Amino acid sequence: MLHQAVQFNQQHTDFYFDASFWQLKEMLQPASTFIITDANIYSLHAGYFKGWKTIIIPAGEAHKSLDTAQYIIDQLIQLKADRTATLVGVGGGVVTDITGFVAAIYMRGIAFGFVPTTLLAMVDASIGGKNGIDIGLYKNLMGTIRQPSFLLYDTHFLKTLPEAEWQNGFAEIIKHACIKNATMFRQLEGTSPGILKKNKQQLNELVQKNVQLKMSVVKADEFEKGERKLLNLGHTLGHAIENEYGFSHGQAVAIGIHYAAILSQQILGFKNPERISVLLTQYGLPTHFVFNTHKVMNMLQMDKKRQQNEVHYILLEKIGKGVILPIPLKDLEKLYKII
Ligand SMILES: NC(=O)c1ccc[n+]([C@@H]2O[C@H](COP(=O)([O-])OP(=O)(O)OC[C@H]3O[C@@H](n4cnc5c(N)ncnc54)[C@H](O)[C@@H]3O)[C@@H](O)[C@H]2O)c1
Ligand SMILES: [Zn+2]
Repeated sequence: MLHQAVQFNQQHTDFYFDASFWQLKEMLQPASTFIITDANIYSLHAGYFKGWKTIIIPAGEAHKSLDTAQYIIDQLIQLKADRTATLVGVGGGVVTDITGFVAAIYMRGIAFGFVPTTLLAMVDASIGGKNGIDIGLYKNLMGTIRQPSFLLYDTHFLKTLPEAEWQNGFAEIIKHACIKNATMFRQLEGTSPGILKKNKQQLNELVQKNVQLKMSVVKADEFEKGERKLLNLGHTLGHAIENEYGFSHGQAVAIGIHYAAILSQQILGFKNPERISVLLTQYGLPTHFVFNTHKVMNMLQMDKKRQQNEVHYILLEKIGKGVILPIPLKDLEKLYKII
């Protein structure tokens, strides 16, 4: 008799909040564990990697590529990683994305886990099981959806995080608050980046809340049919202006969130665009930017969220309640012009 168990969409993920990197030793066998990290993190936190087989990739989005995936695979072969191996991505979203991607294809799939080291990776990139690489200019064009077996959060890594990377994380945190959690929005209003950076407990709680928020959205819609689209708040316009005008992801998303708030005011009678712009500013993020509508509309033509001639735009009914609204491209162009 051949027994075959097929299990889909139900991989289970263990989360370790407020944890320490050293706990990895209790969870995994160094002989069958392969850590993937980038050169920046390795040089800033070298002590952590002693005793682990570590594959170091160059830092930066330009290296979230097929070439880097190939390099990791070559290293895994050299290090004799077999089907029982576990890959652990220790890094920002570039590292976690490429680790999940390689783990999904190496020997048709091996186990993997993440230790996110940027605020953005902690609250966003490492959660949800999407693991992609870029092909040329096409971001995340190739990828898989597969959940990690564990996520370990050690906020100690954030001590070395550059200012611009904090901003990227805060933009996604404010996005989460806007679409799903008015209480968190108020808590963010009541604190500041300076306080959060010093207060480990407050920071850990915020990270945990955001992970849970994103997890619950993802769990309700693992393959992005509806609810998960809410996570795109600020990203439709954000993606269109990010590269064109040289903004960081967080800055572009912040401007996108503010525009979405104004569109929400015009279309849905949303009452609080100023509260949103004040909060974004409080976290060091920009809100206003005059862009070339024509150029942006061209970019939107290629947006993944476009269906026929509409964009599935994420708007706000109120703070803490995001909604998805199809907006015809021609109407959007007019709306952008009058903002
Ligand atoms: N899979 C998803 O669902 C998802 C969601 C959002 C974003 N992403 C992806 O995540 C990536 C962006 O992630 P990111 O912002 O973490 O970028 P990143 O991985 O490039 O990290 C940003 C920079 O910070 C450095 N760094 C990382 N940790 C550090 C630390 N503790 N101290 C000092 N420097 C540190 C890195 O070396 C890098 O230079 C993008 O490729 C994006 O597509 C994926
Ligand atoms: Zn984002």
